[in-house]
Amino acid sequence: MTDATARLDPYHVVADIDRRIFGGFVEHLGRHIYDGIFEPGHPAADADGFRTDVVELVKELGVSTIRYPGGNFVSGYRWEDGIGPVDQRPRRLDLAWHSTETNEVGLHEFQQWLDLVGSDLMLAVNLGTRGTQEALDVLEYANSAATTAWTEQRAANGHPEPFAVTMWCLGNEMDGPWQIGHKNADDYGKLASQTAKAMRLLDPGVELVVCGSSGRSMPTFGSWERTVLEHTFDDIDFISCHSYYQEMGGDAQEFLASGVDMAKFIESVVAIADSVAASKQSEKRIMISFDEWNVWYLHDEDGGQNDKPEERGWPVAPRLLEDRYHALDAVVFGDLLITLLQHADRVRSASLAQLVNVIAPIMTEPGGPAWKQTTFFPFSITSRLASGTALRVPVDAGTFTSEKLGEVANVNAVATLDDEGVSLFVVNRSTTDASELRVDLGPLAARFGRDLAIVETHLLHEDDRYAANTLDDPERVGVRPIDGAVVDGSTLVLPLPAVSWAAVRLT
Ligand code: AHR
Repeated sequence: MTDATARLDPYHVVADIDRRIFGGFVEHLGRHIYDGIFEPGHPAADADGFRTDVVELVKELGVSTIRYPGGNFVSGYRWEDGIGPVDQRPRRLDLAWHSTETNEVGLHEFQQWLDLVGSDLMLAVNLGTRGTQEALDVLEYANSAATTAWTEQRAANGHPEPFAVTMWCLGNEMDGPWQIGHKNADDYGKLASQTAKAMRLLDPGVELVVCGSSGRSMPTFGSWERTVLEHTFDDIDFISCHSYYQEMGGDAQEFLASGVDMAKFIESVVAIADSVAASKQSEKRIMISFDEWNVWYLHDEDGGQNDKPEERGWPVAPRLLEDRYHALDAVVFGDLLITLLQHADRVRSASLAQLVNVIAPIMTEPGGPAWKQTTFFPFSITSRLASGTALRVPVDAGTFTSEKLGEVANVNAVATLDDEGVSLFVVNRSTTDASELRVDLGPLAARFGRDLAIVETHLLHEDDRYAANTLDDPERVGVRPIDGAVVDGSTLVLPLPAVSWAAVRLT
């Protein structure tokens, strides 16, 4: 057991937390919609075909804003295929995922499902095969209160009131050569600027997200952000970041450094955005929408792609990207959430990609049960316990050496402070050393005028770090109280096993 120390100080303020940091992402992909959230005939389905067992799990997960309908899918999507009488909707080929889209679920049905789970809609427009006019059409259909051909159709389709969607993504991953309608930064920047200006004429209340890079390792990373922001700086509110992590070559220690990679990504994009602001002599601050993040076993060990949708014909709702997450994945995942909170001053929105069946915290079996993957726990607990203000938590602990990222701290933490108390989120990234973390609560006790007491603790750790929840064993991995967690005077003592994620609530 090695020693680590930290200090919880109410003056170490990062920022008030925007709840949109706990967003999710639902794409028309694989069994996410069909056989995931929507399965008419399932014993738990409601009259509209939505699985109520999945609704309950999504509510428990605690997702705020949900990005829809893609992802790569949106770059070939005709949104109007998904409105009007269901039996008249066209079946279409989805080129992004080599599937057949039945369009049984579209904007209205998705909003209906959002009403059940209590989340807000964030819509992405197609700037791959389409452009400004189609973005205006869907915005008018969704948000306008005027009487027009589009809004009359909306009313005829059962929704006289506007959907009132605030956040809009100007396309998806337009820097990626795999994207339908992939563009260079100049072409995309001009299109995004012109589309954003037109959208604001229609609805000045929208908040717009321009596409940043699909990952920090993209060859155009950095120059893409600069060029796109030079075109769009005055027109948009957010720039997106997307990042997925996976263990490669059985190197768990390197994988456990993923949070540091995410932090560098955020800090680089902030630096670029602020340098564009400086060159424009502007006080405006562009925020980050980290609207795709997760662990994803995208690559095989040779760097190829694990799932190959193009080898399967054109099925409806095939099993795609159905990653099974183990305990180690959940620890890394918890650290990614810590990293987002550590940057809450600039990350004002984020979307866990994705929610059900597709690289998801929730899995379902057609006609069968729904269950929680390991990653469910850090998300639901952080979303529930983190509120108010994010606090920096400097930790003094050992380090390990990451091949890609240099010296990395073994223990990483963030806290949140609200009127009733404080929540602490910690990860022990070391694969070898358990840590006893001693947290000085003195400054917090002074702030509250009394000593703090533990209300609840949660530990995610498995001796077999590859243990996972499956259809046959859906409760193999969960969280349990932290053995030996105590407040000793003004010190919180937390024993943290190697490769563990933990949360503590104190009031
Ligand atoms: O989330 C899966 C895919 O990852 C999304 O469709 C795409 O935007 C990203 O490359």
